[in-house]
Amino acid sequence: MTDTLLFKGIDEPGLNTIDVYLARGGYEQLGRALKMEREDLITELSGSGLRGRGGAGFPMGKKASFIPKGDMQKYVVCNADESEPGTFKDRELIQKNPHQLIEGLIIAAYAIDATINYIYIRGEYDQQADILDASIAEARERGFLGEKILGSDFSVQLELSRGAGAYICGEETGLLDSLEGKRGNPRLKPPFPANEGLFNGPTLINNVETLSAIPSIIKLGAEGYAAIGVKDSSGTKLVSISGNVERPGNYEIELGTSSRELIYDLAGGPVDGRAIKCWFPGGSSTPVLTADDLDVGYDYDSIAAAGSMLGSGAIIVVDETQSVVELAYKLAKFYAHESCGKCTPCREGTRWTVHMVERIKDGTATPMDLDIMAAVQEQIIGHCLCVLGDAMAMPIGSLIAKFRDEFEAEIEDNRNERERKLAEEFAAAEVEIEGISA
Ligand SMILES: Cc1cc2nc3c(=O)[nH]c(=O)nc-3n(C[C@H](O)[C@H](O)[C@H](O)COP(=O)(O)O)c2cc1C
Ligand code: SF4
Repeated sequence: MTDTLLFKGIDEPGLNTIDVYLARGGYEQLGRALKMEREDLITELSGSGLRGRGGAGFPMGKKASFIPKGDMQKYVVCNADESEPGTFKDRELIQKNPHQLIEGLIIAAYAIDATINYIYIRGEYDQQADILDASIAEARERGFLGEKILGSDFSVQLELSRGAGAYICGEETGLLDSLEGKRGNPRLKPPFPANEGLFNGPTLINNVETLSAIPSIIKLGAEGYAAIGVKDSSGTKLVSISGNVERPGNYEIELGTSSRELIYDLAGGPVDGRAIKCWFPGGSSTPVLTADDLDVGYDYDSIAAAGSMLGSGAIIVVDETQSVVELAYKLAKFYAHESCGKCTPCREGTRWTVHMVERIKDGTATPMDLDIMAAVQEQIIGHCLCVLGDAMAMPIGSLIAKFRDEFEAEIEDNRNERERKLAEEFAAAEVEIEGISA
């Protein structure tokens, strides 16, 4: 296991203040980056192999290279919306080491020549937003933000914008609309934000963890960073582990580490030696894996080969005592509530899925309902404007495929229970009627 990069000294008291950050060598990498040619810097970021840590895993340097050159206003927008259930790594990064993020963001801004930049933070992260506000002010006071920073020709501004608690504002184009003061609805792509983003200007959007990794890349060099991890999954990754484990929390791991090691050695596995029923490898929107997949390496390609996605790097463990029907219900309700309603398969499909799971729960469903529910998930996947619809359909589809017997048993049990109760009610009503006629 390599040393930690993102979490290095993370629990040092006062690390969120600029004095402690500077004492640990903070902002030195910004000074080095500003001496590089922009093209070389982008080549360095590409060479590191860093993939976006927000969910899609798109190579960061490649995305920066798509930003057109020229005099137009360009932007870097940091996505700190962090609303995917199970994901809480960005919160810790912001709370404990905000200057690492700010330094990475300024380096990215210099690379694409973006003079106006934003951090968009989820509405519920009040404490973290206050910390960022204070850190941005400190960085400005010390000359890391503002006019011609560190004696270079580069002038840069950074503003914090607070969201209002909508999951869809984490989707990059919904976020841009919200940042522009509109209702946060996803936009049609293309055009992609790199060409037409914030206020129609070229915009580089990256997750908190992605930008926070940049100072380490400059320090280690592209090759040094790429040497950590495995092929096509370089570097370290913060993994938020939650659910039925002894020690939930954020852990920094080298990509490629076995999933079993993460769930059992780091997070302690389920309580009381219970077995794992299933686990979400990359947040609640990813297809579930089972105990048979625990030896899969935790990296982008291995998790994809196992049939799921690394997503935001949030592992949710579900032990044998949990009901898959309840799990499906919680998922469906969350995504139905968060759907922006713009496209029919997502708006209707998420709500119908909630109704269908409710039928299973109240004993009115038949085994045919399960086939209909599975078909609805298939109708949603790939048919929506953004992937929020897929975010419900993929995990629910995988639950039905992998735990069909349990769904069927619950349908049967709940029907029997309903019929038993109805029979009791009829019997009671008959006694009453007999009583009246007597
Ligand atoms: C419904 C939805 C919610 C999303 N929420 C987040 C989020 O909270 N944070 C985030 O970084 N990316 C989120 N994403 C992914 C972003 O659209 C985008 O891919 C990401 O910010 C790009 O940064 P990266 O390349 O550094 O990962 C979400 C995507 C979708 C479809
Ligand atoms: S998929 Fe859902 S959230 Fe995304 S645009 Fe369509 S309706 Fe809105």
